[in-house]
Amino acid sequence: MRTLIRPIDEGSLCDAKAILEEGGVVAFPTETVYGLGGDARSDAAVEEIYRVKGRPSDNPLIVHVHSGYDLSELVVDVPYAERLRRAFLPGPLTLVYKSKGKVSSRVSCGLDTLAIRVPSHEGAQRFLRAVDMPIAAPSANISKHISPVTAEHVFADLQGRIPLILDGGACIGGIESTVCDITGDIPVVLRAGLVSREMIASVVGDCLAYTPKEGEPVRSPGMKYKHYAPACETHLFEADQTEALRRACESFTAQGKRVCVLCEHAFASSLGGADVLDLGSTPEEMAARLYSLLHEAEARADVLLALRPCGFDGVMAGVQNRLGKACAEDRKQ
Ligand code: TXA
Ligand code: MG
Repeated sequence: MRTLIRPIDEGSLCDAKAILEEGGVVAFPTETVYGLGGDARSDAAVEEIYRVKGRPSDNPLIVHVHSGYDLSELVVDVPYAERLRRAFLPGPLTLVYKSKGKVSSRVSCGLDTLAIRVPSHEGAQRFLRAVDMPIAAPSANISKHISPVTAEHVFADLQGRIPLILDGGACIGGIESTVCDITGDIPVVLRAGLVSREMIASVVGDCLAYTPKEGEPVRSPGMKYKHYAPACETHLFEADQTEALRRACESFTAQGKRVCVLCEHAFASSLGGADVLDLGSTPEEMAARLYSLLHEAEARADVLLALRPCGFDGVMAGVQNRLGKACAEDRKQ
């Protein structure tokens, strides 16, 4: 199959719609990462998404809709959800509701809940309005690889497997949406992202961060998998292990290996001649740059040495989570 990268215009949107109506899948941009979309109502389309990505079949998908979509068609609302939607949507916040069972049961892998996202990216909105169907979409990468933040990243992973990539330029958010369960009295963040737990709590009074308990089924199955990994060797150093990182950098370089060091801006200037991938200074900058820098690392390094940036609150919760998963020693499991 030939994979075309096309700008978002009337012609490409019309072709995207035709592909989706036949049960096929297309890649499209969002403000976080590129998505691989198919008709959420069709078992065959949802199966195609899992097949193309090589995704484990117990990891549920998010359904994407445009900002005018009537959510009551798909899910049961809770009283405080409207305040969250007004504060953060359209935007990088996915809400998990009780499902009305109107989409393919394969979307939520048999769970009685449904994750819904209303992306703010203009191209995503145009796409969702043009195709006029709820779109199930995971990130448009091969399962466990780094999420794509440009059309070229999608092409590198999925060329030959999908017919069309709608090109909306580089994603500005950089890490995937916050996933927040709103089926109970208090919202629970299942996956940290650009809308932080603190921001949600400030709107509805309280918000918990989910931590899996021993012996309990995982509430967001995607979180148990290794993720976001570049193809090169990776080592993660804690913020106070700068000397160990310097020694590792010297030692790998002496072995003739190409080394990249990923770190926040404050540390970048102290690294002398090393090939530095600068995450920037603010949490939002770090989120926006993380995946494109991981893509750069795998393109030009044999070894990536990452220094954990400071801070675990707010948006940094998402940055730390993705960095940890990208560099986990056991990521190839
Ligand atoms: O920013 C994003 O969310 C991107 C773009 C494309 O919109 N999408 C994305 O999808 O990151 P994916 O499939 O890579 O991650 C979906 C996450 C997984 O962690 C999954 O377990 C969780 O959402 N999820 C989906 N449905 C769920 C449900 N019903 N209950 C709990 N977690 C759910
Ligand atoms: Mg993903």
